[in-house]
Amino acid sequence: MNPLLARLHPYPFERWRELTQGLLPNPALPAISLGIGEPRHATPALIEEALKASLGGLAKYPATLGEPALREAIAGWVLRRYGVALDAARQVLPVTGSREALFAFAQTVIDPTQPGATVVCPNPFYQIYEGAALLAGAQTAFVPGDPARNFAAEWHRVDQATWARTQLLYVCSPGNPTGAVMPLDEWRRLFELSDRHGFVIASDECYSEIFFGDEAPLGSLQAAKALGRDDFRNLVAFTSLSKRSNVPGLRSGFVAGDARLLKAFLLYRTYHGSAMSPLVQAASIAAWNDEAHVQANRALYRAKFAAVLPLLAPVLDVALPDAAFYLWAGVPARPGEAAGDDVAYGRQLLAQYNVQVLPGSLLARAVDGSNPGRGRVRLALVAGVDECLEAARRIVDFTRSYRESTP
Ligand SMILES: Cc1ncc(COP(=O)(O)O)c(C=O)c1O
Repeated sequence: MNPLLARLHPYPFERWRELTQGLLPNPALPAISLGIGEPRHATPALIEEALKASLGGLAKYPATLGEPALREAIAGWVLRRYGVALDAARQVLPVTGSREALFAFAQTVIDPTQPGATVVCPNPFYQIYEGAALLAGAQTAFVPGDPARNFAAEWHRVDQATWARTQLLYVCSPGNPTGAVMPLDEWRRLFELSDRHGFVIASDECYSEIFFGDEAPLGSLQAAKALGRDDFRNLVAFTSLSKRSNVPGLRSGFVAGDARLLKAFLLYRTYHGSAMSPLVQAASIAAWNDEAHVQANRALYRAKFAAVLPLLAPVLDVALPDAAFYLWAGVPARPGEAAGDDVAYGRQLLAQYNVQVLPGSLLARAVDGSNPGRGRVRLALVAGVDECLEAARRIVDFTRSYRESTP
């Protein structure tokens, strides 16, 4: 067996299942899950139709590089969305969802023969980053976010010796679970660090199209261009249709950026065997070429957040995020507690009101004895507005009694 497998941590949902084992959710109330970040809005008809129309394309192995028409459609979208012109032949690759790509990228980039090879991750974070780093033979370093600065990562807490060993940095903007979008100044700082220490930046942007302000979130390629880095050196962006177009089952996304890195990634992927099905390619072309369904999808999330937030704000420490479909809510401390207990809160909410949320400490690692997810829960507002409102009403009732209860 590969000994590195033993270094993997259980996935947050697995941990949560263990922590709620034997617990009986209130059978008088129908179950509502705000736990998993899986989009549940309807898949747009144009994507289903494109899939059906391409059923004849199955008698052929697809190329890992994807069809030129798909890479052109992706480059067209990047140009419209970010004002960045890409060479579709060299700077774009289709991937079968951003998850596998985020994982595979570390296997391409990491040189485990270098002593102390390090991957820097935000904290809290999407657990694939950690698993990718560990299986590539690297070690991880975690950077907490600062709740007082919209959860901005505290890069200054990474010491020079760690940066010197860093080979790969994962960035998630808009962030899961915080929804925070990284501003240009922070990108400037990361590019400077990357230039000084030679590490690669993997920018996970799968929530980029679900946002609440007037301005669409800044993308990493857009930031690089604004800072005169037209070659995107040491930068690769990861984007997905899963959330943008409500097709998590399609498994479609793309990576774009540094042509040198993508050439190596293509080589890796050819052996790994992650070519996209011709049906999925056809459906993806239709999806990237249409913006109307994305606007409609965003409007649904906006209406949902506008309805739910005023209910929750009086009982939880919660604010409208920049983007994504999560609320990263602080739970109240009970009498005698120094801080909120996210696991106790989540367990009791499930037992008494049959609502699933994800305790924040399961989405983060404790560093120097402090877990930045502790005291927060992640609420994924992925269900319809009525179900989310019903969940919010139950959370309000529950929290009012919970905050007075004895630990
Ligand atoms: C932060 C983040 N990145 C990447 C993904 C993977 O999405 P997909 O593989 O569907 O593109 C997810 C999915 O939940 C996510 O939350």
